[in-house]
Amino acid sequence: MIIPARGARPERTAVLAVVAALAVPLVVAPIVAAPPAAADAPLRVHAAARGKFIGYAAGTSPLANEAAYRSVAASEFNQVTAENAMKWESTEPSDGNYTFSGADQVVAFATANNQQVHGHTLVWHSQTPGWVQGLSASAMRTAMQDHIATVVGRYANNASLVSWDVVNEVFEENGNLRSSFWYNTLGSSYIADAFRYARAADSNARLCINDYNVEGINAKSTAMYNLVRQLRADGVPVDCVGFQGHLAIQYGFPSQFRENLDRFAALGVQVRITELDIRMQMPRDSTKDATQATYYRNVVQGCLAVTACAGVTIWGFTDKYSWVPDVFSGEGAALPWDANYSTKPAYTAIHDALDDGSGPAPDTTPPTTPGTPAASGVTSSGLSLSWTASSDAVGVAGYDVLRATGASGGSFAVVGTPSSASFVDSGLAASTTYRYQVRARDAAGNVSSLSSVASVTTTAGGGGPGPSSCRVAYTISPWGGSPGFTAGLVLTNTGTSSLSGWTLAFSLPSGQAITPPGWSATWSQSGQAVTATPLSWNSTLAPGGSTTIGFNGTHTGGTSEPTTFTVGGSSCTVV
Ligand code: XIL
Repeated sequence: MIIPARGARPERTAVLAVVAALAVPLVVAPIVAAPPAAADAPLRVHAAARGKFIGYAAGTSPLANEAAYRSVAASEFNQVTAENAMKWESTEPSDGNYTFSGADQVVAFATANNQQVHGHTLVWHSQTPGWVQGLSASAMRTAMQDHIATVVGRYANNASLVSWDVVNEVFEENGNLRSSFWYNTLGSSYIADAFRYARAADSNARLCINDYNVEGINAKSTAMYNLVRQLRADGVPVDCVGFQGHLAIQYGFPSQFRENLDRFAALGVQVRITELDIRMQMPRDSTKDATQATYYRNVVQGCLAVTACAGVTIWGFTDKYSWVPDVFSGEGAALPWDANYSTKPAYTAIHDALDDGSGPAPDTTPPTTPGTPAASGVTSSGLSLSWTASSDAVGVAGYDVLRATGASGGSFAVVGTPSSASFVDSGLAASTTYRYQVRARDAAGNVSSLSSVASVTTTAGGGGPGPSSCRVAYTISPWGGSPGFTAGLVLTNTGTSSLSGWTLAFSLPSGQAITPPGWSATWSQSGQAVTATPLSWNSTLAPGGSTTIGFNGTHTGGTSEPTTFTVGGSSCTVV
């Protein structure tokens, strides 16, 4: 539940209803906006030149279904937050059943478009399923730990996902801790615990506390300031503070916005504007648009003025999919693009704040054209490609690999987005010719020309069993003082085709036994024979892909490691 700035507003809990409700575009009076003053480059290019991110909240439905939405999202922004897809009700709707399709979709889009991802959110009183809310204290703490370990752990090695909102909206307006089911069941310790669990799951991610109505200096932001200071003094890993920024022009711009950012920055944390939208009472008109543009400019300028401010995320970007009209009755038009994807004065204000002439020149030069891809290791179903790398004035961020089927004709589509100059393709048909081209991208989003085309024909297939196509790294950590241990395994698909529905089998040395349930797989033991089968989210390993699974176990003295591991009956390389 969100408590708006002033006055009673309807609450809402449904997630998808917002998108559904907004499928009908808002009706606004036509407004003739001045063309952007210096819209020479997208926002992300100027933001990158200033060392900041400019981001958006992504809805999975328009991301999947609307080319116009994807086009603005990809070209204008270098950061993204999933609007709903990483919330508890989306990722773990029932106890232990994780669903990552929406979250993965956002991360994949971000990776393909060189955007950093902010994970939102782990522990919140809203959009958390009923099964969590009714748990006893010890069960709730365990559920929180499992949820954080699984969700954060899933993306811990993902280069795109760099930060998390660990706790969200823990305060009441008067600065007391919110009387949520978390607080009422666990007391205030749930906050520190959540951060510690998140740090245990990802030692690198930036861990944030996030809230609304804390943009200016007031009782609530001062309570947040005191909490962050205390947590850090206690050694709790709080790295960042998120100011949501759900503003409204009729309530005035938050007082001492910049000073507030400054005082948090002085605590040693990163600050960021995480959910910016600036609503107005409908109908929209040019005067309100101008005020709104001023507010957007103030926010961006405030972030630019504070070194510790990492960037600004806009909560959506088009009025077509804004949550505002559904939650704040009679209000809307809160975003820089209208429902038809036309920019408003707010866009120009953001652009010109980023491009005010005081920063370095933006990078508008694309990388050089990469070399023609060369194929190796061609089989009936896969092949490896490598090419001469591109160079770039700032740095190559990654490549797009495009493929067309047939010796001619057909259309090229992106099949991979590797970060370096090689790619393994899989799932191909035998005795078939494919054509490949690659292009390079840089951090500002500039894209090179396409390379020349390489044609490759897969082999006829039908041969005998291939070489080992899996690798296992097994690490055993004995516990001091008790006959127990923790075993961690990284299973990697070293083949050229996807590994689906795998079963990993090995024999535990005698005297060792697993203690169910283990994690990230379903484990079973019969005699000394152990098998692990995947969960839904790691059941398919793409070529080169890997998954980390593990279990706790007992031993009667020896902690030697298993020597042979098989997947589907074939031995894996052991490292
Ligand atoms: C909102 C989404 O935009 C809506 O689609 C959903 O129905 C409710 O949540 N504070 C937050 C965000 O931290 O997660 C909220 O997002 C907006 C307020």
